[in-house]
Amino acid sequence: MSDWLTIKSDYDAMSEAAAKQVAILIRENNRKGKSTVLGLATGSTPTGLYKELVRLYEEEQLDFSNVITFNLDNYWPCDDAHEKSYVKEMNEKLFDHIIGGERGIKRENIHIPSGKVVEDAIEEHCIAYEEKMKQVGGIDLQIVGIGKNGHIGFNEPEHLADGTPWYKLRTRKVDLSPATIKANGLDGTGIKSAITMGIDTIMQAKSVLLLASGPDKAQIINETFGAEGLNLKSPAGILAGHEHCHLLIDEAAAAAIDKGEAAIKGKGVIARG
Ligand code: GLP
Repeated sequence: MSDWLTIKSDYDAMSEAAAKQVAILIRENNRKGKSTVLGLATGSTPTGLYKELVRLYEEEQLDFSNVITFNLDNYWPCDDAHEKSYVKEMNEKLFDHIIGGERGIKRENIHIPSGKVVEDAIEEHCIAYEEKMKQVGGIDLQIVGIGKNGHIGFNEPEHLADGTPWYKLRTRKVDLSPATIKANGLDGTGIKSAITMGIDTIMQAKSVLLLASGPDKAQIINETFGAEGLNLKSPAGILAGHEHCHLLIDEAAAAAIDKGEAAIKGKGVIARG
């Protein structure tokens, strides 16, 4: 097994290991009097990680007072109270449980792309989002899940299909692929677009932790990172070129890959053009 791939027995073990890594980083930075900038993801995959972070906050004094967060994406247009809103999801899964009090995260340190911004102001909103990241020194650790079609954030395979180089993709409004509309239960909601960090934005993070769990992800994990080498049709494959990217997945998600040296054959070959 290479150090860029860790396979845990199940979802809980994967979530615990992810939370441990986040907590170590926060504690280390707190000791040095530095802030920790986290990139966060939504979806079912990081739910266990957030649950464990809440437990560490409640039971093991983990201090979020100097943590700054940037979420990967949000649907657009989408009100914060909408059942699909990532603002609502993040509040319910994490922020509402770790806010207020001495060790709590500060509301002004939480950043999520807005689902409410008017169309004419989207571009400005996206530029400002990236600017804020820069102002705080960039993302220390970006948590990423993977869509069944290989998307990261909402960077869909279609966004690369026209030959657009990944390093030109920054935070922007995107059309969701039909596969994502179906997979994310958006039929009937009218939601067809999102605002997402770009692949380049994600690649600028100092480190990236990609999580994947369950049999539903086995095929895309193999297609993206498996023995056949890198598949650039899967946006997640670009992460193999990140110097500090780590895949933390469970046995079920790893079921189709060759766990030996073939895994992540293509690591390191993606260059910035
Ligand atoms: C959504 C998010 C992605 C996430 C993906 C996988 O589309 N935009 O960031 O990684 O879903 O979701 P899940 O973890 O539920 O499989």
